[in-house]
Amino acid sequence: MYVITGATGNIGSKLIEIMLSKGSKVRAVGRSADKLKPFADKGAEAAIGDLSDSGFLIKTFSNATVVFSMIPPYYTARDFRAYQNEIGASIAEAIQKSGVRYVVNLSSQGGQLPDKTGPIKGLHDQEGRLNKLRDVNILHVRPTYFMENLLMFIPMIKKMNMAGSAIRGDMKFAMIATKDIAKFIAERMEKRDFSGKSVRDILGQRDVSLNEAVQIIGRKIGKPDLKYVQFSYEDAEKGLIGAGLSEDVSKLFIEMSKALNEGLFAVNLIRTPENTTETSINEFADTYAKIYTSG
Ligand SMILES: NC(=O)c1ccc[n+]([C@@H]2O[C@H](COP(=O)([O-])OP(=O)(O)OC[C@H]3O[C@@H](n4cnc5c(N)ncnc54)[C@H](OP(=O)(O)O)[C@@H]3O)[C@@H](O)[C@H]2O)c1
Repeated sequence: MYVITGATGNIGSKLIEIMLSKGSKVRAVGRSADKLKPFADKGAEAAIGDLSDSGFLIKTFSNATVVFSMIPPYYTARDFRAYQNEIGASIAEAIQKSGVRYVVNLSSQGGQLPDKTGPIKGLHDQEGRLNKLRDVNILHVRPTYFMENLLMFIPMIKKMNMAGSAIRGDMKFAMIATKDIAKFIAERMEKRDFSGKSVRDILGQRDVSLNEAVQIIGRKIGKPDLKYVQFSYEDAEKGLIGAGLSEDVSKLFIEMSKALNEGLFAVNLIRTPENTTETSINEFADTYAKIYTSG
């Protein structure tokens, strides 16, 4: 039995599709029966509950061969780090008490850093929390910046004919499609080729700058002159708050952008066949164009 948290999200939904297509038994964890129904219709068991409820999670993780764990985003949290700690502790307790022997935990590039990385600090803390657990093999997967983050530019492109954020436009950094993350995690869950507590980085197909990514996307959506603009940290923070994120989450995102701009993570990494995945920014831009035109 493969237990998958964040089941209706970017990674979880793709992971479940891969597992179901192979005829594997899947337990999909989420808060909404309606959103889990498409997976239940294809044969997955739906586990409906909140990740902060450790009693629910102990039951949900029981008899799992392997669990995929994550701390989901909560963009309107008043205190995001407290939320991350609450969910993280609940997951850790359930792993220990359920007796599951294998866990693939979603972390991030920058997960090795204790500070200055915004929301990634919570994933660093979670790695440490899980590393203290006994009698369980835990693999922390550290993917880089998701190509899907670029979808947040759609309203701005439609309204203002430009794309922008606090991240530098000219800096190349590692970017990955979430379908590649799901494929990588599915392989690890099936092979269980990890023991003790370990880490794997995944860096996407190549490093890309936001100037280039936006140019490629612009061509695919019929806006060949589309440009990326770097906003000041102050303006970007106001923009995030205006888009509905809490003040706390907006501050943390700006801290993460600064860390990226200063090269603290996801920049100048050594690529190997093991940490490089297949989907190119060009291929992702085709998916982007479909979402752009359908929305
Ligand atoms: N974006 C990046 O560039 C990046 C890079 C590296 C790592 N990461 C990490 O990746 C993770 C996000 O992955 P993702 O994009 O696949 O997630 P996602 O698309 O935001 O999906 C998360 C899912 O978790 C479920 N969920 C949310 N709160 C929950 C709760 N309290 N209890 C139970 N389920 C809950 C939600 O489903 P329901 O609403 O149906 O419950 C949601 O569909 C985060 O930990 C982030 O830090 C992100």
